[in-house]
Amino acid sequence: MDKFEIAVIPGDGIGMEVVPAAMRVLDAAADIHGGLSFEWTTFPWNCEYYLKHGTMMPDDGIATLRGFHQIFLGAVGMPNLVPDHVSLWGLLIKIRREMQQSVNVRPAKLLNGLTSPLRNPSAFDLVVVRENSEGEYSDIGGRIHQGSDEMAIQSAVFTRKGTERVMRYAFQLAEKRRKHVTSATKSNGISHSMPFWDEVFRDVLKDYPECATISHHIDALAAFLVMKPHAFDVIVASNLFGDILTDLGGAIMGSIGVAPAANLNVERTYPSMFEPVHGSAPDIAGKGLANPLGQIWTGKMMLDFMGYEELGNLVLDAMEATLAAGVKTGDIGGVSSTSEVTNTIIDYLRRRT
Ligand code: NAD
Ligand code: IPM
Ligand code: MN
Repeated sequence: MDKFEIAVIPGDGIGMEVVPAAMRVLDAAADIHGGLSFEWTTFPWNCEYYLKHGTMMPDDGIATLRGFHQIFLGAVGMPNLVPDHVSLWGLLIKIRREMQQSVNVRPAKLLNGLTSPLRNPSAFDLVVVRENSEGEYSDIGGRIHQGSDEMAIQSAVFTRKGTERVMRYAFQLAEKRRKHVTSATKSNGISHSMPFWDEVFRDVLKDYPECATISHHIDALAAFLVMKPHAFDVIVASNLFGDILTDLGGAIMGSIGVAPAANLNVERTYPSMFEPVHGSAPDIAGKGLANPLGQIWTGKMMLDFMGYEELGNLVLDAMEATLAAGVKTGDIGGVSSTSEVTNTIIDYLRRRT
């Protein structure tokens, strides 16, 4: 019996609703399998915690998390309580960076039973591989001068090591898929980091001769994702470009509430963190309206990463069956609650035993 010790950080807003829902689904999947179980340890680190303690997590928070196999996180941020850059850099981004979760894998595909806002979309199935620890998300910079000369400067950091690492991950993933890698660039307008990004891409692609490649500027690529998402297999992107493309990926599936993600420590020296694309959705929090599918699909990605891909696929089947039965939350055109969707998925899984 494999027992996985998972650190759970529901976080803020709908994170507190969709995380318990996904844990129930994963427990049901584990029951069906019979050969694995989860031991969940929940940490109350969020904006409320910050208001009480002045930090988003205790000083030894990272050390505590190191003792777990993986981390399962909902969403962080309550901008009416704590400024976003404080809460996010104090928890989510801190964990990503300190645990070297340098690759963020974010699939987008047309699920059965889900209506895309695109008109007659061909079936698409793509994965954005987002650099997750450097790039435009840097803390180098500051505010200088005052008055009419006031300015803010933020330097982007692209290391050869980090850029190569995310690109190699993208190629290795593409080798197992349709062998096509698109690089998201902007070397026409950003004159240092993006020509460097292109150069590293040209160097790395030589090691993967079976893969076809193309580079698109991010602005054109964003438009292509709307016009012809079926043309893409793996897209490798910098931290900010990947962030933007993956909300778009969620949108073309039908809702950002469906989009899953995995922050991977590819070297497996630290836990990885499984956390969907969406945020804490303060506008719908606490009402039972949140779509749990993004968090549940994220749980499937955790199963895949831990070597239980068949079980992960069963979870995705259960999601699609639930959609096909019309049990959906409001963001995707249904009237069901978070718990009704979750219960239907669990019922489907139980019927498979
Ligand atoms: P958001 O993703 O929280 O919400 C954007 C829109 O999508 C909202 O209308 C929301 O209701 C809807 N939505 C999102 N998830 C949904 C779901 N599961 N079901 C149904 N509808 C859903 O983005 P935002 O409003 O820009 O951010 C809100 C807060 O979340 C901010 O503090 C932001 O910084 C934070 N945030 C955190 C994460 C994270 O922790 N991973 C990611 C994105 C945003
Ligand atoms: C995401 C989020 C975060 C990011 C924010 C909340 C810092 O948008 O995970 O996509 O930009 O990485
Ligand atoms: Mn985002």
